[in-house]
Amino acid sequence: MEQAGKRPRVNLAVEITGLTLQNPVMPASGTFGFGEEYAPFIDLNRLGALVVKTITLHPTPGNPPPRLMEGHCGLLNSVGLQNPGLEIFLREKLPYLRRYTPPLIVSIAGRTTEEYAELAARLSEAEGIAALEVNISCPNVKEGGIVFGTVPAMAARVTAIVKEHTHLPVIVKLTPNVTDITTIARAVEDAGAGAIALINTLQGMAIDIERRRPALANIVGGLSGPAIKPVALYAVWRVARAVKVPVIGMGGIMTARDAIEFLLAGATAVAVGTATLVDPGAITKIIAGLENYLTEQGLADVRELIGALQI
Ligand SMILES: Cc1cc2nc3c(=O)[nH]c(=O)nc-3n(C[C@H](O)[C@H](O)[C@H](O)COP(=O)(O)O)c2cc1C
Repeated sequence: MEQAGKRPRVNLAVEITGLTLQNPVMPASGTFGFGEEYAPFIDLNRLGALVVKTITLHPTPGNPPPRLMEGHCGLLNSVGLQNPGLEIFLREKLPYLRRYTPPLIVSIAGRTTEEYAELAARLSEAEGIAALEVNISCPNVKEGGIVFGTVPAMAARVTAIVKEHTHLPVIVKLTPNVTDITTIARAVEDAGAGAIALINTLQGMAIDIERRRPALANIVGGLSGPAIKPVALYAVWRVARAVKVPVIGMGGIMTARDAIEFLLAGATAVAVGTATLVDPGAITKIIAGLENYLTEQGLADVRELIGALQI
């Protein structure tokens, strides 16, 4: 029997392409490094999953600075997939991440389909990786990245090739910088994606009027944060109705209320990016806020919220 005054615990667990997440909230790739940076601030074991910065086959220095520009309600970045490359990830980052219990999702990007294949194959041999997130949506790199994410046939090809080279579940991360995101979503679902993550950043720019130059060295960058939330929510709502596989929604989630909106729109899980850069504790606060909301609403299970938007 429940003790007087003690509220029953709600179930926050969700399932995504065969992975059980203890709660539906995870970091967004690229805003969480390889976990070590956040360990002093939050208990990584409380997260729904761990999602690392996109890795590439070879080390990548990224774009020259300045590459971050804070706007009124969003962040513009042109980091350009800076990462230590596959070998150093396997040797130095993975052993550290393995000590945590949430499923580890490794984001990958290639310049060619062969590179995606090689990354998939090599990571599948390693221990401690729960799923691959295929990044075909980075707007800040010249080769690969977004190019694969804007043409349905290319997006499908990359997905199929990764599937051929791994036994791990495959999540494909999409860009909103397309005419119709549902077409791309259906193409990657048909090619074997077990889940779809969206959205990556929207392309944008900022100008320094004193110097009359672009504020970012790369001229253009990817916009994230509160400015993109309505766009992201709309994309999640449309894609969730267009595909059968689960959707991981992200874009401007700063609070539990934002996360709940994404779940109602049809996301099975959510990712938090820019908010984490503002407050390293944002993700754990969102998990706690979600649990409170469910209790207040008298709901026993977070899955009751998924797609529960009434129109
Ligand atoms: C500084 C920065 C770096 C990012 N790097 C990556 C990356 O390496 N791979 C990726 O898939 N997305 C990357 N993203 C995009 C985020 O994962 C996320 O899709 C996007 O920022 C929207 O969520 P948010 O508004 O909560 O930040 C990056 C975003 C930021 C702000």
